[in-house]
Amino acid sequence: MADRGQLLAAARQFGTPLYVYDIDAIRARLALLRETFGSQFGISFAVKSNPNVALLKALAGHVDTFDVSAFAEVERAVAAGCEVERITFCGPAKRDEEIRRAVRLGLGELVVESLREARLADRFAGGLGTRQTVLLRINPATAPRQFGVNMAGKPSQFGIDEEEMAEAIDAIAALPNLDLAGFHIYAGSNSLSAGAIAENFGIMTAVFRRAAAHWGRAPAKLIFGAGFGVPYLPADEALDLAGLAGEMLPAIAALRAEPAFARTRLMLELGRWLVGPCGWLLSSIIAGKTSRGTMIRICDAGFNNHLAAYGMMGSVIRRNWRIANLSNPDGEPGRYTVVGPLCTTIDTLATKLELPQLSAGDVIAIENSGAYGLTSSPTRFISHPEPREAMLEGGRLADISESLLNHWRLADN
Ligand SMILES: Cc1ncc(COP(=O)(O)O)c(C=O)c1O
Repeated sequence: MADRGQLLAAARQFGTPLYVYDIDAIRARLALLRETFGSQFGISFAVKSNPNVALLKALAGHVDTFDVSAFAEVERAVAAGCEVERITFCGPAKRDEEIRRAVRLGLGELVVESLREARLADRFAGGLGTRQTVLLRINPATAPRQFGVNMAGKPSQFGIDEEEMAEAIDAIAALPNLDLAGFHIYAGSNSLSAGAIAENFGIMTAVFRRAAAHWGRAPAKLIFGAGFGVPYLPADEALDLAGLAGEMLPAIAALRAEPAFARTRLMLELGRWLVGPCGWLLSSIIAGKTSRGTMIRICDAGFNNHLAAYGMMGSVIRRNWRIANLSNPDGEPGRYTVVGPLCTTIDTLATKLELPQLSAGDVIAIENSGAYGLTSSPTRFISHPEPREAMLEGGRLADISESLLNHWRLADN
């Protein structure tokens, strides 16, 4: 994992705010995932978690598929060198034009979330004289426990409700230009509990069994939304991957022992677990003050740069994330309230967080920022410069910034 010296060097070279991604660390996590689950599962990387094209390029040869959620993400995956056959396209509101382009391109799989999408894909495929492979996304009736976000067991815009899957399977199987290849479930995200994730895999395998039994065919592919979480908070413990494998793999082996699933390709679909811990947002302290007894430090990255770290994405209550003072790691500890540069009190990154003495000019690192960082943030708010992005690979830093809206042009000299 990138060390303090490398992160500080990145901040010096590119300025702050700056996202840094450690590609070697991401590849090491991928290798661990394959070592643990590779005999049973392929790996699909959720592009939405970090769509930077240079990062995708670095991963394209190491994952089996890219899971995209918009046609623009198809374009990113292709720009990163991923063959169209290795792309699966999910998402509850695919525009007609996105479906048409996906079919025209011959995308690996379209994950249809409604009969509307299936019928449109069928019509476009018919018009083009081609066939489109589809998976049906099912929303289970049973919700997993202990997930940060949970989509199952309640009204949802995602997929077809399990209660209606039989009719949907019949309808899709009857469409002349589609090849139904299997099923997809993504029911919850960001769980750190091996027991809860194993239970969710139990729910998913049960739904897949019922779907396949109704269909009367052996699915070629099943996609399991993994839901593997990341320890964002200081008290969080990382997911015990080996423990999870111990709990989960016997049930998968039992599934595989059934003739209907003996040759099925099983996929783990995930983003944050792979890239989240391998990224940092670096920010500089611009100013400090003590206000009514509270030591406040104002940094150059607000929620406009990292909505999730400021508690506004996937959390009800904002809690302090893991933050390090890179410039002064051995300083006298103090309790600091760290805020961003925006004109609202909700621009608060940390409240009374114990950090080594934090002064103007110091660089802090917000940990676990490799997923849902820049991509999930409202960068246009107040028009501050967008963070740059850098990649660390083989000990070398590269600028992989994509935005061209970054630079102040007035009074440059
Ligand atoms: C359908 C689907 N697949 C995969 C993911 C990736 O989830 P995570 O990054 O938590 O692994 C998401 C996240 O929302 C999703 O909606």
